[in-house]
Amino acid sequence: MAEYVRGAPEVAVIRMCNPPLNAISDVTLRALKEKVKHANIDPTAKAVVICGANGKFSAGADIKGFSVGIQKDTVSMESVVALIEKSEKPFVAAIEDIAFGGGLELALGCHYRIANMKAQVGFPEVTIGLLPGAGGTQRLPRLIGVPAALDMIVTGKYVPATEALKLGILDEIVEENPIEAAIKLARRISGQPLGPRRLSLKQTPQLPNMKAFLSEALLKVKKQAPGCLSPEMCFRAVEASVYLPFAEGIRKEKELFRLLFTSGQAKALQYAFLAQRISEKWILPNGASWKTASPQPIRKAAVIGLGTMGQGIVVALVKAKIPVVALEKDKKHLEIARKAIKACLERETLRMQQKGKTLDIHKAKLLHFTLDFGALKDVDLVIEAVFEDMVLKKEIFCKLSEVCKPEAFLGTNTSCLDIDEIASITNRPQQVIGTHFFSPAHVMKLIEIIHGQHTSPTAIATIMKLAKIMGKCGVLVENCFGFVGNQLLNSYNEQTYFLLEEGSTPEEMDKILEEFGFKLGPFKVSDLAGLDVGWKSRIGQGLTGANLPLGTPPCQRDGKRYSPLPDVLCEQGRYGQKTGKGWYLYDKPGGKTAKSDPWFHNFLQNYRNVHNITTRTITQEEILERCLYSLINEGFRILSEEIASCPEAIDTIYINGYGWPRHKGGPMFYASEIGLPQILRKLQKYAEANPDIPKLQPSPFLQKLVTLGSPPLKNWPSLVRAQQNKL
Ligand code: NAI
Repeated sequence: MAEYVRGAPEVAVIRMCNPPLNAISDVTLRALKEKVKHANIDPTAKAVVICGANGKFSAGADIKGFSVGIQKDTVSMESVVALIEKSEKPFVAAIEDIAFGGGLELALGCHYRIANMKAQVGFPEVTIGLLPGAGGTQRLPRLIGVPAALDMIVTGKYVPATEALKLGILDEIVEENPIEAAIKLARRISGQPLGPRRLSLKQTPQLPNMKAFLSEALLKVKKQAPGCLSPEMCFRAVEASVYLPFAEGIRKEKELFRLLFTSGQAKALQYAFLAQRISEKWILPNGASWKTASPQPIRKAAVIGLGTMGQGIVVALVKAKIPVVALEKDKKHLEIARKAIKACLERETLRMQQKGKTLDIHKAKLLHFTLDFGALKDVDLVIEAVFEDMVLKKEIFCKLSEVCKPEAFLGTNTSCLDIDEIASITNRPQQVIGTHFFSPAHVMKLIEIIHGQHTSPTAIATIMKLAKIMGKCGVLVENCFGFVGNQLLNSYNEQTYFLLEEGSTPEEMDKILEEFGFKLGPFKVSDLAGLDVGWKSRIGQGLTGANLPLGTPPCQRDGKRYSPLPDVLCEQGRYGQKTGKGWYLYDKPGGKTAKSDPWFHNFLQNYRNVHNITTRTITQEEILERCLYSLINEGFRILSEEIASCPEAIDTIYINGYGWPRHKGGPMFYASEIGLPQILRKLQKYAEANPDIPKLQPSPFLQKLVTLGSPPLKNWPSLVRAQQNKL
């Protein structure tokens, strides 16, 4: 787990070995401590280099070890870092490729740091609900000052070697092997005084306006992820480095670390991190999987339909440096899209430059706008994003069959239509796949990847790989109406309309759900996305509009409760932000600031009177539970029908596509933390009170899990399979 070798006469090399990324497990840490102690007493070693095996320094603490909790008998990382720093012999960190988290803390304990050009350093702890707990929050501000240290520790961003050199985190960067360079440096500096190199002895550099700077920074931190503790605790720890001596700062860091560790949020965030990795490992019922299928390269792609979604998808592809043919139906729409895409790419280029990355769209000739389907003949992938209309989509896929080369993959961005029906019109159903992006598509991380009956494992592997290349997370789901995310969303939205009818308001419900942790409440989301999107879909399903059978009761469909409220708003032209009014009022069409609308409240009261709805005071508890538990209930149904392969997939979808607060781990994780018996009890209570709302009837799978004593979430998929095998 750590080797002690001779690098040169009088230079010892300690090499951490825990492949593939030298994560610092308890065993590695013990071995490291032992080697450091040995180096300190080895009379033949005058200087020491610390490096990692296999061309990597270290990815930091081993996340798997966190589940064990804080234990008394484990070696503390902080004590090892302190041991290195206190040593009378110079220690040089030779950073190859990565020094993250605990890896960077170790390097900061060393007296000098050298890295290779492509190395990156960072403290990602905040993203898993923690803070750097081995002195990192005290040493880094002493080394690079408070603004830069806060920026790194509070956001968890990775800093490339060139920037780390400018900041002063690194002493040198080299083209060649940094271990060789570190050995040379170790020989050169051996015998020089180490006092000035010990970060714990330094003062944190002061700013003339430190107090004002910190209060402004705190406001920003609080906005970063409302309700999430770790950014603020990271801030508090760095703040301690300004006002407290080192030893007291370390005590504060420990205290804040413990608070985070036991908060429950760290567990949820670590779960969310691992859930994404689990979701990437797809497997089909026939045994084909991520292990066996080979992704094909996408050298050139096309996007058809350059509206809201198409524009974002084009930008996302270009950002991934994939050449794109962008196609519209007529000149007018093509020109509108060209302007919008250009403006968006300029903003993105600027943003990427600020992060030290480059994107030169003109030089790379990444974009070609056209009205001509002939331009698609050599693309490897087409993503269709025209209106949500089966007839139109089939027309497009029929043309694609004719013009695209036989090996090209054909993706559709439909949000709920049947992939098999679309595929059936083509000459290659095995290459047709759902690629469901989320708006804005160049920002949102999720792609729901839908496989039809005939979709090949190669097509799935190709789109999963493409998602990665685009910096997104792909989650494979089964083909069904609305797939996974929108089915859960429908359940949640339905409750919000019913609760509105029963006496609540958009303002009240948005506030309650935003306090729970959603960035935007359901009515603000609806205004942002456009009420017309769901309305068109409901017209298509015959739930409203001209195809609704005469004599259908206004608040019932097939004997179930139905709220016509959003339909009526759409009939009045209230589509949300785009028309300047929806659930809220905006200062103009396209306006962003939601204001309470007296017209709407008056309308709502009349609506209740017309439909004979008696209002009552609804508690915050009922609002939260009916919205969240009905969504969770739908999750159990989806799991039992194997539309999603595991709860981790549902949670990854909901966190990355629907704004579920990451620090609450996703709806299925949240349910397991609340306790399944409690969720079941509450659903039973609300179902009894509302027998005409089937989505409140507890899912049989949830009931089964409770009968089985609420097994842990990771066992749920095997219980689904056991149930299927019995049938
Ligand atoms: P949109 O109405 O903004 O854009 C559709 C575009 O397709 C228009 O620019 C239109 O000119 C173009 N178009 C229509 N017929 C065409 C043809 N024959 N050839 C080429 N272009 C044609 O629609 P939006 O919102 O971008 O939706 C597109 C698809 O994405 C739909 O299937 C929708 O359900 C889905 N979707 C929408 C989301 C949203 O938030 N808006 C989210 C996820 C999926």
